[in-house]
Amino acid sequence: MSERAQTTVLNATEAQIQSRIIEELKAEFDKEFAQTGKQKKMCITTFGCQMNAHDSEKLEGILEQIGYEKTDDENEADFVLYNTCTVRENANLKVYGRLGHLNKLKQNKPSLVIALCGCMMQEDTVIAKIKKSYRFVDIIFGTHNIYKLAELIKTRRESGRMVIDIWKEQKEIVEDLPSDRKYKFKACVNIMYGCNNFCSYCIVPYVRGRERSRKPEDIINEIKRLVEDGVVEITLLGQNVNSYGKNLQDSMSFANLLQEVEKVEGLERIRFMTSHPKDLSDDLIEVFKNSKKICSHIHLPFQSGSTRILNLMNRKYTKDDYLELVRKIKAARPDVTLTTDIIVGFPGETDEDFEHTLDVVKQVKYNSAYTFIYSKRTGTPAALMDDQVSDEIIKVRFNKLHDTIQEIGSNITDKEVGGTYKVLIEEVNEKDNSLVSGRLENNLVVHLKGTKDLIGKIINVKIVEAKGFYFFGELA
Ligand code: SAH
Ligand code: SF4
Ligand code: F3S
Repeated sequence: MSERAQTTVLNATEAQIQSRIIEELKAEFDKEFAQTGKQKKMCITTFGCQMNAHDSEKLEGILEQIGYEKTDDENEADFVLYNTCTVRENANLKVYGRLGHLNKLKQNKPSLVIALCGCMMQEDTVIAKIKKSYRFVDIIFGTHNIYKLAELIKTRRESGRMVIDIWKEQKEIVEDLPSDRKYKFKACVNIMYGCNNFCSYCIVPYVRGRERSRKPEDIINEIKRLVEDGVVEITLLGQNVNSYGKNLQDSMSFANLLQEVEKVEGLERIRFMTSHPKDLSDDLIEVFKNSKKICSHIHLPFQSGSTRILNLMNRKYTKDDYLELVRKIKAARPDVTLTTDIIVGFPGETDEDFEHTLDVVKQVKYNSAYTFIYSKRTGTPAALMDDQVSDEIIKVRFNKLHDTIQEIGSNITDKEVGGTYKVLIEEVNEKDNSLVSGRLENNLVVHLKGTKDLIGKIINVKIVEAKGFYFFGELA
């Protein structure tokens, strides 16, 4: 087990069952190692969002405890796991593409174990396709039972057959999974799972299930443990963090949770994502205003600037609501930077609708934005809407949007030159070892001269040059 592998608090029974299986497998692996002298290797590829990335840390933690060593090279792996995403069709196609390559690998190395999990696996059509055309896959599981990975590996070893275990809903939140965190000094913490919003284009509620909040004490305890372990920055994760706590027995708002997190001694920075504009309350803005630890950055997807399209998207706010919300946030923290998600080419989007999207971009002035071409997801209401926009029109709009965002973003970053900011140093620069790279509160990256002993420290950096969406700086 690596030094970074750690165990967080467990739901007693399930956690105990799984850790017993992990021990059994470990004993078998040790025996095999004694015979072959070869340490088994695992390679995990994660597609999609932070939720998946965070799940992968837990999956990696389990595999490490079993005795797998990490490798980035699929070709030398004994266990390959794809944690999949299905938010847009592209994400799906990538997985099928890579499976072709895995098939060849497995022909040369029949002992290779191939496992698929994540959001794509929650779709019946995907499972049917894999069962029919990708028979060489060994283990398939979904988003609700990742904690069972060891048990699934055991079943596969004993049965020799393809093991499929997909749950429609999560039965309980299992609190204790081993986890192999990528960074020693920063970590993500799930505060809730699933989504109840059913935006008409989005498949996430179907593959991640209904909204479930973790208990505040579980969240705070996990954060305390992480801080004891050296973490200074926490990102609270949920599809819609602003509706945190609604389903808890003793209901609690996200604003209240943030106040509790703020009290954790030793924690220096708090981030959260994602915020749905419809649920971002005045209370939250007040907490944000007065906080010493919440970073001055909010990711606030607006998807479209047209109230007509927002209505069709089932987003439950208008263009004016959104702009008013931004005004309040900026009034509370004038230094705030905003980022967003935008969809281009939602069914029925006209030039006029698109102009409203450009207008929001120009008025809000985002530091950066993720722009997506609308992708039809079977099973969502939007997939049945008439008037799908042509590829040519989408391309023109997408490029125009992209250029506008770039221009505004780089104008904003130019203004930061000369300023001094607190930066959390994250790593030695890969391309130039004399540099280290870190993040400002607004999440932008800065490179400066420095050595690895700065990693994990928050230091003052003077910005000397802006390069569009990143900076060069020097110790202040
Ligand atoms: N829960 C988050 C986002 C989850 S998905 C939120 O509500 O903001 C991340 C982003 O993917 C979304 O914000 C949206 O912009 C994009 N997205 C989701 N479904 C999509 C689809 N069918 N086509 C294109 N983009 C999509
Ligand atoms: Fe999808 Fe909307 Fe839920 Fe975000 S809030 S995950 S876009 S349904
Ligand atoms: Fe993709 Fe699932 Fe996230 S569909 S965007 S990995 S919640």
